Amino acid sequence: MNSFISQSNFFEGNNPEKIVSDYGTPLYVYNERILRNRMHNVSQVITKYPYTANYSVKANTNIHILKIALEEGLNCDAMSIGEIQVLFKAGFPKDRIFFVPNNVSEEELIFAIKHGVMTSLDSLSQLELFGQCCCDLELSVEKRTCAVRINPGVGAGHNEKVVTGGKKTKFGIAEEDIPQIFEIAEKYKLTIAGINQHIGSGFMDPQPYLDAVTNILRIALQFKNLKFIDFGGGYGIPYHKLDDEKDYPMDDFKKRLEPILDDFVAKYGSTPLFKSEPGRYCVAEGCVILGRVHATKQNNGHLFAGTDVGMNVLVRPSMYDSWHDVEVIRDGKVVPRDELTDQNLVGNICESGDILAKSRPLPKMERGDLACILDAGAYGWSMCSTYNSRPRAAEVLITKTGKVKVIRRRETIKDLMRLF
Ligand code: LLP
Repeated sequence: MNSFISQSNFFEGNNPEKIVSDYGTPLYVYNERILRNRMHNVSQVITKYPYTANYSVKANTNIHILKIALEEGLNCDAMSIGEIQVLFKAGFPKDRIFFVPNNVSEEELIFAIKHGVMTSLDSLSQLELFGQCCCDLELSVEKRTCAVRINPGVGAGHNEKVVTGGKKTKFGIAEEDIPQIFEIAEKYKLTIAGINQHIGSGFMDPQPYLDAVTNILRIALQFKNLKFIDFGGGYGIPYHKLDDEKDYPMDDFKKRLEPILDDFVAKYGSTPLFKSEPGRYCVAEGCVILGRVHATKQNNGHLFAGTDVGMNVLVRPSMYDSWHDVEVIRDGKVVPRDELTDQNLVGNICESGDILAKSRPLPKMERGDLACILDAGAYGWSMCSTYNSRPRAAEVLITKTGKVKVIRRRETIKDLMRLF
């Protein structure tokens, strides 16, 4: 693909130069049409049985994006009280939120219990604490309901740092500890309504996920009367789309998932609600970052283009060596990728690891160009920082009708000073 921006009509007819002259750089730019399309796709992963897709909001917690998820019929999973609060503010009712924390305090559990948000406990010690909180709050037995997170014993993901299942990771309860789940549940009169897992993030081959589904369904047979089973998220997106990388094979995945569910339903005797927890798939591709090239130079034969998209704006490349495709925009138009020169696209942060793209064949950049970083909607703004005292970027949404709307104003230095 020569240009994703042109092919997808990402800016919906708006001139990107006009957008940044109105809102500045660095700027997160979202496309509502693409976001809705991806959210719709995940809502259809299982159609034969009761199913909900829980959008995993850690990928992107912008309230306007959450409102789109609400309209698309998605439920959500939250990792913290902050995420629960923003979901409430976006209009999600408590029964459309699943709290999947790890290592949380008593206060956080009490918050979830008091607000009636279904909570998954990720260790025996947290299950014990949850039971204790229920007793302290003198909760009736009917209200003492929760889920437990099982460590699937296997994991998958785009980088070792995002693999969450497997024997060495901190997440979930090991299969051999299941008898103790029942003991703690008995002690505190808890009902285990659901089990959940998450193997990792950003895989393109569905097989490890399908294996993990098979595995958790085998484990589920040990639990009576489960109301739901949550298979986790992790579906990848093609970060190398300019090199024609294919989409996550959603249709093939769905076809292979169905017989696994058929087999379980026949054995279990009842049909629980099935859930998944996709984050990245919902939001990654519906966003680009526009940054200005402020300087170019050659250091010992290496070409550098220096932008205002530092690791404070997008940390994924420096944190995980993640690849984000880059397009170059000059005078409002995408520069065709006909003649490419190896360049390093870097930010303005005082770290040598502040690199967005290393020795990347790109159209030769000039000062004043815009660098357009693709697939930035997941774990982009939600992981950004104010390192080097740089206020955080603004976010705009291009609506279905092509209007550009600010969905988060740019942070200011005054905002940063306010905390002192
Ligand atoms: N459920 C649980 C329990 C999770 O821990 C995660 C992600 C998800 C669902 C959603 O996974 P997704 O569908 O987005 O892959 N910051 C990293 C990704 C870390 C993912 C953490 N957990 C990145 O930028 O690639």
